Amino acid sequence: GMAEKAGYDHFMLKEIHEQPEALSQCLAGRLDTTDISLDDVNLTADELKQYDRIQVIACGTAYNSGLVGKYAIEKLARIPVEVYIGSEYRYRDPIIDDRTLVIVVSQSGETADTLAALREAQDKGAKVIAICNVVGSTIPREADEVLYLQAGPEIAVASTKAYITMLMAFYMLAIYFGRAKDLLADEDSRRLITALKALPKQTQQLIDENEDKIKALASEFANQENSFFIGRSIDNAVAIEGALKLKEISYIHAESYAAGELKHGTLALIEEGVPVVALATQESVLDKTLSNVKEVKARGGVVTGVTLAGEREIEDLDYRIEIPETEELLTSILAVVPLQLLAYYVAVERGCDVDQPRNLAKSVTVE
Ligand code: G6P
Repeated sequence: GMAEKAGYDHFMLKEIHEQPEALSQCLAGRLDTTDISLDDVNLTADELKQYDRIQVIACGTAYNSGLVGKYAIEKLARIPVEVYIGSEYRYRDPIIDDRTLVIVVSQSGETADTLAALREAQDKGAKVIAICNVVGSTIPREADEVLYLQAGPEIAVASTKAYITMLMAFYMLAIYFGRAKDLLADEDSRRLITALKALPKQTQQLIDENEDKIKALASEFANQENSFFIGRSIDNAVAIEGALKLKEISYIHAESYAAGELKHGTLALIEEGVPVVALATQESVLDKTLSNVKEVKARGGVVTGVTLAGEREIEDLDYRIEIPETEELLTSILAVVPLQLLAYYVAVERGCDVDQPRNLAKSVTVE
């Protein structure tokens, strides 16, 4: 009823607005100025140095968080990371040994395909860390180590605050691994941790400043049947989640593409009026993304850019959403928020059942 929704029309909107608090809870007690302490993850530095590969296994939105996790861990800890879909993992005769660390990610802790993959990995001798939200659910009970998201209950089928805290969990793990491997100097670690601490407030600011604008933008999408989400590196991973959100709840087809790959296929589908969301938060590849935006504009695509505040290199955008400044590695947490709000307001405008989209369930316990 309305009471549980605390005045919001839908659980999804309530949960989007709870993200600043969810991020704070996820960080609570886990940061000091230069180090991360994770009580339920008992890996010694010596043990960590033994792992020469990490496999992340998950489904849906949790899988998408792993795509960001891969960037963060590889960047800070220099351990190669493979990201697998839960339902694919067991059927490929996965290469696992005692130098492989497995991370399973699940909001509910009950997803059948993820659980089966966890068991397979343990049978083959891997140590498994679970990143989960629901305390005491099956996956964290069976895993060797647990990192709880502390996001609070998530009711809407489309995941928002669980996803954003999964990203936070990966960033914390990446710093933790990087420190354990002596790859992250004190000052770099301090800088990243300071930036992590600022994210809850920045997320709030982002929502406050952009919600009305995104509501208006939603009408640009509401009558479309196709849309595209593009970005490079971490922005590409976030684009995948943004496209999933829109598909899940508005039923508009949304395709996510690495921006540089457009010209190898998808560009053929860009015509007059097709909405394209271009994520451009990664400064090191900004000029490359800019030329991809131009390719889209030249074919009549209507481009919404998600850029850092004050960034003006990308000029010919139809709409611009600005996110507060943060470390280049950490933009995913901020960049996903406008995409969640966009999916939400487009779905509302199309009269969709936002919290209970057709054919989907919150937790999928069949393989
Ligand atoms: C279902 C939900 C998704 C979720 C996925 C994985 O398909 O509809 O929103 O991302 O399961 O769920 P989990 O609980 O394992 O994160």
